[in-house]
Amino acid sequence: MKLRKATEEDAHKVAHVMVKSYNMDSLEEAVEAFRREMMQEKAFVVAEEGDAIVGIASWQMHDVPKHMLAELHRIAVLPEFKGKGVAKRVFEFLLDDCDRFYRSKGHALRKMFVLTHASNKRAHAFYEKLGFKLEARLPSHYYDGEDELVFSMFLEKKKD
Ligand SMILES: CC(C)(COP(=O)(O)OP(=O)(O)OC[C@H]1O[C@@H](n2cnc3c(N)ncnc32)[C@H](O)[C@@H]1OP(=O)(O)O)[C@@H](O)C(=O)NCCC(=O)NCCS
Repeated sequence: MKLRKATEEDAHKVAHVMVKSYNMDSLEEAVEAFRREMMQEKAFVVAEEGDAIVGIASWQMHDVPKHMLAELHRIAVLPEFKGKGVAKRVFEFLLDDCDRFYRSKGHALRKMFVLTHASNKRAHAFYEKLGFKLEARLPSHYYDGEDELVFSMFLEKKKD
């Protein structure tokens, strides 16, 4: 499996993973989301098996580099690749990418957080396995009646 940063040319393959793993209605919606998020300076990383992209993740700096705060915005693998350690490897690659960015600005990544649907128990177990801790609950955040949970990781504590 090869891990690398995504480019604009990956739009359709990344969108395919998004359609399979997220609440997206069509490939067109997912391609548009990917392109918009790239323009918003969300950094995507991908896992490749042969010609196929089988896992994706993205992160975004929050506010200014000195806050050393990043959001894990997306992480997903194709359904047939779940439970094989793909997302964990994608996340480790993403963390390095993110930390390299902050170091290039004279800082180091301090905290990473992710918002996840309260109903997405699979994702909670995955985040906890990676070392994230439940930090907050945001009522009816993205959808009316669906709370979001905030899971966070302090990087210096991760090394304990
Ligand atoms: C959440 C998701 C990314 C996990 O991907 P994955 O490739 O199956 O995860 P991995 O195989 O890398 O698992 C990493 C660790 O988390 C654990 N884990 C993963 N899913 C788990 C689950 N449902 N229950 C318990 N533990 C789980 C694994 O056991 C593994 O632990 P280990 O290192 O001790 O073996 C994947 O299920 C997915 O794509 N879900 C749909 C998209 C989604 O909901 N993304 C999150 C949105 S916020």
